[in-house]
Amino acid sequence: MAKQKANIAILGATGVVGREITKIIDELNIEFNAIKFLSSAKSAGTKLNFQGREYTVEEAKPESFDGVNIVLASAGGSTSKLFAPEIVKRGGVLIDNSSAFRMEKDVPLVIAYVNDEDLKKHKGIIANPNCSTSQLMLVLKPLNEKFKIKRLIVSTYQAVSGAGLKAINELRENTKAALNNEEFTPDAFKKPIAFNVIPQIDVFCENGYTKEEMKVANETKKILHLPENLPISCTAARVPVFNSHSEAVDIEFEQKVSPDEVREILQNSFGVQVIDNPENFEYPTTRDSSGVDPVFVGRIRKNLAFDNGISLWCVADNLRIGAALNTVRLCKKVIEMELY
Ligand SMILES: NC(=O)c1ccc[n+]([C@@H]2O[C@H](COP(=O)([O-])OP(=O)(O)OC[C@H]3O[C@@H](n4cnc5c(N)ncnc54)[C@H](OP(=O)(O)O)[C@@H]3O)[C@@H](O)[C@H]2O)c1
Repeated sequence: MAKQKANIAILGATGVVGREITKIIDELNIEFNAIKFLSSAKSAGTKLNFQGREYTVEEAKPESFDGVNIVLASAGGSTSKLFAPEIVKRGGVLIDNSSAFRMEKDVPLVIAYVNDEDLKKHKGIIANPNCSTSQLMLVLKPLNEKFKIKRLIVSTYQAVSGAGLKAINELRENTKAALNNEEFTPDAFKKPIAFNVIPQIDVFCENGYTKEEMKVANETKKILHLPENLPISCTAARVPVFNSHSEAVDIEFEQKVSPDEVREILQNSFGVQVIDNPENFEYPTTRDSSGVDPVFVGRIRKNLAFDNGISLWCVADNLRIGAALNTVRLCKKVIEMELY
């Protein structure tokens, strides 16, 4: 007998990611029995239009999760930690966008169409990877399958939307102030973001890397089931771009590899679009990728520092594949695989 349609809740519905999740639930035609929208007390009472109906955003409380089968959460780590036991206790499945549970052993960390099988191991919580890791996975998975990754270096150029609504507003206000020669005190960032590049995302760890950089290394290994000791190094910078993260990626492989082979594999990979004609100035930029689903790849070339090395440029909408799109794809998989 087919399972009953799920009751769904969006936790963090008034945030940047939550709003995108809501849009994509509609775009991907997710079938549900009922849906509710939750936020903190601050935005409770906000009216939302969804599929031709008006909904009132409610303040999230433990009782909000009574009868809810799947919760799509993007309300920050502390909120997820607060509500996860309440959701699981009531039999719900939490698909969480925060970093709170990503590296926990019992929590599958999944990019849809990359490691779907891991979903079957969930014990109530499924984690959505960090945005800069997410866009890389659809690119690295088919290349790892064919040529086996030996070493990986990633440099990220991350948009302000990755830091939430406050950060988006700060780029706008800071830019206006800078153009008018006015004083500006940063709040969302440690330094002024207008006309600047900030080599810090999240806090620093003891090894001199930031948490964001270590997330890329650790999450990549967990998702692709790579050996713990495989060398991965990342430098993450915040750039004054509203949306879409860019990444310069250098990969050394075990097997011999050519740029043409990589181009062909990626051209035929799910969720990836290759734009790679530099002689005609054709390569992906943040403007190409904002608001659409594919992870774009270009500038595919032989890496001159590694044996069997490839360098490439990878751009994607961090709010979509980096957060909301993968969250909703995971929800779709959980429904299809009847894992709720
Ligand atoms: N932006 C990205 O690219 C990205 C990518 C991957 C993961 N994430 C993660 O997704 C989460 C949200 O990011 P965002 O950019 O959407 O942030 P945001 O724009 O600041 O939105 C935060 C949302 O969480 C709600 N919230 C905050 N505290 C709450 C509480 N105690 N109870 C219930 N709801 C609460 C807020 O409600 P109010 O409106 O009432 O404040 C709002 O709806 C973060 O964990 C972030 O790390 C973001």
